[in-house]
Amino acid sequence: MSIKEIFETMDWGPAPEGTGEARAWIAAHGGRFGCFVDGAFRKPGETFASTNPATGEVLAHVTQATQGDVDRAVRAARRAQPGWAALGGHGRARILYALARLLQKQSRLFATLESLDNGKPIRESRDIDVPLAVRHFYHHAGLAELMETEMPDRVPLGVCGQIIPWNFPLLMLAWKVAPALAAGNTVVLKPAEQTPLTALLFADLSRQAGLPKGVLNIVTGDGAVGERVVAADVDKIAFTGSTAVGRRIREATAGTGKALTLELGGKSPYIVFDDADLDSAVEGLVDAIWFNQGQVCCAGSRLLVQEGIAEIFYRKLRARMDKLRIGDPLDKAIDVGAIVSAEQLATITRLVEANTEGQRHVAACPLPVGGYFYPPTLITGLSPANPLMQEEIFGPVLVGTTFRTPAEAVELANNTRYGLAATLWTENVNLALDVAPKLAAGVVWVNATNLFDAAAPFGGVRESGFGREGGWEGLMAYTRPAAEPGRPLKPVLPHGGEGEPTDAIDRTAKLYIGGRQVRPDGGYARPVRGPKGALLGHVSLANRKDVRNAVEAANAARVWGRQAGHARAQILYYLAENLSARATEFAARLRAMTGVGGEAEVEAAIRTLFRWAAWADKVDGRAAGVPIRGVALAMREPVGTIGILCPDESPLLGLVATTAPAIALGNRVVAVASEPFPLAATDFYQVIETSDLPGGVRQHPDRQPPGAGPGAGGASGHRCGLELLLDGLAAGDRGEIGRQSQADLGGKPDPRLDPSGRSQPHRGRDRGEDDLD
Ligand code: NAI
Repeated sequence: MSIKEIFETMDWGPAPEGTGEARAWIAAHGGRFGCFVDGAFRKPGETFASTNPATGEVLAHVTQATQGDVDRAVRAARRAQPGWAALGGHGRARILYALARLLQKQSRLFATLESLDNGKPIRESRDIDVPLAVRHFYHHAGLAELMETEMPDRVPLGVCGQIIPWNFPLLMLAWKVAPALAAGNTVVLKPAEQTPLTALLFADLSRQAGLPKGVLNIVTGDGAVGERVVAADVDKIAFTGSTAVGRRIREATAGTGKALTLELGGKSPYIVFDDADLDSAVEGLVDAIWFNQGQVCCAGSRLLVQEGIAEIFYRKLRARMDKLRIGDPLDKAIDVGAIVSAEQLATITRLVEANTEGQRHVAACPLPVGGYFYPPTLITGLSPANPLMQEEIFGPVLVGTTFRTPAEAVELANNTRYGLAATLWTENVNLALDVAPKLAAGVVWVNATNLFDAAAPFGGVRESGFGREGGWEGLMAYTRPAAEPGRPLKPVLPHGGEGEPTDAIDRTAKLYIGGRQVRPDGGYARPVRGPKGALLGHVSLANRKDVRNAVEAANAARVWGRQAGHARAQILYYLAENLSARATEFAARLRAMTGVGGEAEVEAAIRTLFRWAAWADKVDGRAAGVPIRGVALAMREPVGTIGILCPDESPLLGLVATTAPAIALGNRVVAVASEPFPLAATDFYQVIETSDLPGGVRQHPDRQPPGAGPGAGGASGHRCGLELLLDGLAAGDRGEIGRQSQADLGGKPDPRLDPSGRSQPHRGRDRGEDDLD
């Protein structure tokens, strides 16, 4: 286009970004990259091409890491970890700060390389991806500096395996690497096979920043390499990507003791109320669904418009779409770039072409020839069950329908298996404050969309994953409590018929479901004996149906989570008071079952109830200081219904310390009592019955008839005997639940919740009922 033509049309002229520096960097590596292990690039092995999706040009050849590469990387990370942790928060902060500074200085190079490799418009990589990545390292330099005083009882996990997708290659690296390093972990990172180049450039930069060798290792390759990282000797896996792969990783890590956070897909609603500033809401949609060609996990991809304004809103939207410019991602005047790969383009095309419902509008702008481009598309008038309203398209395709009332908007918005983000537009602050908390989403944006910051925790609920990234909450997920779990008491397994009953009246403790003591469905019970064989009583054995009933009762007791923290506190205090009144009796029972102590454990259980009563109305959210106009509120919500397997050590305290925090923060609990020492739990439900706790507690032992399982002396390790199912009542990230039940008798997954009184909040927008697990 000539200058004369530009003057005549007043259209944007081409404004291409130069790619010389990026190409020079690739050339300096000979166009071929090995894995980055122990502070150096290894010799390239078998390679695959990394291409520019806008042109198909091969940019570089990158190694498909072998098992040996992954093992070497993990060993290097393992060797480096103690030294890195020993640098201390300040030492690590200095290096994170250096990483931030260097990244900032080389931001243009990173932005250009990112747009070349991924196809995203340079305007986005330059103004969003890279600045946010820089901010992430700065912020985490600060967190590293402060963590020793603010989180004195947390220590790093060790070696973290991190697997990231192709939609924000550098930004996702920053989201993963910065908190892991800040907390004192070392990293083995696998970038997506489509977009490995900025991670490799970052590896170069890490050397310049003085990052000790082995602290950051990068293995490249496809999903098979990802699987190797997951299976490797690492302490945590952090994954961002598709829900299907997230599910596989969850299965692969189950039972391994590896910590896990998953940030998965979404189908986020974008709700426009009839009093919204419509022009702003239309502009917001450009950021919601055409940002990064819609390849954004939290893209506002499901438009819900209030009926009265639908026509005018659609008209404005179509007019805006027609002005979008699609083309060379390196052109600074381009709005929509290329789709990352031929496969992704095919997926988008297939999903859209399969649809026959609604009205489709395709942006009028011409598509470039060559490369993987897809036009901005709007499909309205879809029914809520339409696959396009339910499936993540991960492309520049907006689908939508209308609603009449706010209640209907909430219902439609929540009609999804995902729960990553939601956006709502209204000029009515009351409406916004009413609707936002009702949306099942990890993040809700009001009159804005797709805002991210290092200080604001981000993450999903339901099939969008769990765990938070960003802020103190994200840092927490890269640490574990410093305290070692207490040494378990030697369990006394029930055995044969020796010994005399301690009580002439035979008592069989029942299950406790829905606030009532109930007989077990299967009609089986088993004896409970003391350490010397004395018969202490019988406990009911729960079967599958009992468990189902308990879960149903717990799910139905939602009202507990809606109560004010103050009300929950009163009930916990009352529980403590009633336990205190029967302290002697509980101590005697503990002694009879375990043969040791008693008084001290009861006293500790009472104190624990007091502690969590105290926290019940003090676990507040926080306002994060984000460098954008507006305010980011981190709100806590109960997880939902939590299953707790109570530990055998300290049978009463084990029950109380795991369930009290859960209850205090508004969750409902299905608790399984200690197998060898169940009577502390069955006695405790009598305390619950007298303490106004809604819902109730119940006991539920095993599904096997007596004599068939380890409860009768077997050694399969299958949990048997009396199990207490509490329904009615627990918080924290679901990732913490397993740990709480096994190790963290103090019940403090979060320093903020730690009675030692350190100060950062725990992230909680999880809603447990429908989550991935
Ligand atoms: P993906 O989930 O397969 O890939 C993400 C990362 O996981 C890549 O680094 C990949 O190499 C790795 N990976 C693949 N299989 C693995 C396995 N079995 N074990 C360990 N790591 C593995 O995503 P893909 O196939 O690139 O995209 C498919 C769909 O996933 C997209 O259409 C989109 O719907 C969704 N997606 C969601 C993202 C998000 O941010 N939530 C990001 C990328 C994709």
